[in-house]
Amino acid sequence: MAKILIVYYSRSGNTKAMAEYVESGVKEVADVTVSTLAVDKVSAKDLLDYDGIIMGSPVYYGGMASELKKLIDDSVVYHGKLSGKVGGGFASSGNVGGGNETTIMDILKALLIHGMIVPGHYRGDHYGPVAIGKPDERSRGECRKLGKMVAELTVRLHG
Ligand SMILES: Cc1cc2nc3c(=O)[nH]c(=O)nc-3n(C[C@H](O)[C@H](O)[C@H](O)COP(=O)(O)O)c2cc1C
Repeated sequence: MAKILIVYYSRSGNTKAMAEYVESGVKEVADVTVSTLAVDKVSAKDLLDYDGIIMGSPVYYGGMASELKKLIDDSVVYHGKLSGKVGGGFASSGNVGGGNETTIMDILKALLIHGMIVPGHYRGDHYGPVAIGKPDERSRGECRKLGKMVAELTVRLHG
């Protein structure tokens, strides 16, 4: 059974709502278990337990929140051990053009540096789901799409 972690930081609930829609996409796939956790419930060591790791953050000055960045920086002690796991990212901003894609790229760059495998998508939100404030119907669909895509690839590689 492939194991997926969705870890997020959220101060006012928008990124948390996205995480829940990502989780519903993961659950469309058989032979997968999923844990959806706020970042303060996850240690760097916990990352070792999962085959797929999806990270979400609000946009703070065009990048990820320091709370999520801290988890990533703490994970340096396991550098090399996350290699081959599947990854993904998502972000919520206040404004259109407020930095959603730069924030997702912040997350994906870190996962790639860990040697993780990050799928893009040829339609819709190419790098990962974005939302402006509370996720609307379009964004909710993109979140489910990411969850399903990461789960399917994780099962193929690790199931
Ligand atoms: C410290 C701080 C910095 C922010 N920087 C940006 C920004 O650069 N661009 C933007 O569009 N929104 C920015 N926002 C707005 C948040 O990204 C937005 O409200 C987001 O939906 C909050 O997510 P949450 O409900 O999960 O906490 C900022 C908010 C805070 C508190």
